[in-house]
Amino acid sequence: MSTPEQSFGFGQPATAEEIAGWDIDIAADGAGLPPGSGTVAQGKELYDRLGAKCHGAKGEGGEGGPPLVGGIGSLNTDAPLKTVGSYWPHAPVLYDYIHRAMPADKPQSLTPDEVYALCAYLLYLNGIVPEDAVMDATSLPQVVMPNHAGFTSPDPRPDVFNTVAGAAAPVATPTS
Ligand code: HEM
Repeated sequence: MSTPEQSFGFGQPATAEEIAGWDIDIAADGAGLPPGSGTVAQGKELYDRLGAKCHGAKGEGGEGGPPLVGGIGSLNTDAPLKTVGSYWPHAPVLYDYIHRAMPADKPQSLTPDEVYALCAYLLYLNGIVPEDAVMDATSLPQVVMPNHAGFTSPDPRPDVFNTVAGAAAPVATPTS
């Protein structure tokens, strides 16, 4: 592995601005959420204009994108419907996803106010926040998602590493 001092004669160190452009993750507890805010009404206007063509008029899904609304309580039934409302455990992650990936035809084109507004509207359509909700860096992490308890941490499954029945210790993965 090369050290910072080593150079292969091409490329240049990334600038702080370039690194900041990649440093856009939002943690499940809301760490990293930027200043800004948005209402349900503002989100509706944006969604109707930018999202409905792919996700359907009310987030029910469409040819271009999956359903975003509905299915709450359906996960342990014969017809589980995984949506933002029924499946996502942490509301701040909705900000992270919409900001980095949506609209799929213009990712990362939305301002923080617009992303908060879209979060507010999608949470409202799922019946998770009221119509007068305002989402920002304080209120979004306080939203309790219906499936917030659906994910266990740490992973309860036993840690297996290439164990072979009867073998005394894990068998190392053969390198080529
Ligand atoms: C305001 C605009 C939009 C919003 C708020 C939005 C929101 C979302 C969200 C929250 C998801 C994740 C769904 C999930 O995994 O449960 C998603 C996925 C997706 N969206 Fe959008 N979307 C928008 C616009 C669009 C547009 C315009 C398109 C089509 C050009 C699109 C296509 C998709 C596709 C294909 C996925 C699935 C991606 C995958 O599974 O990797 N979206 N969108």
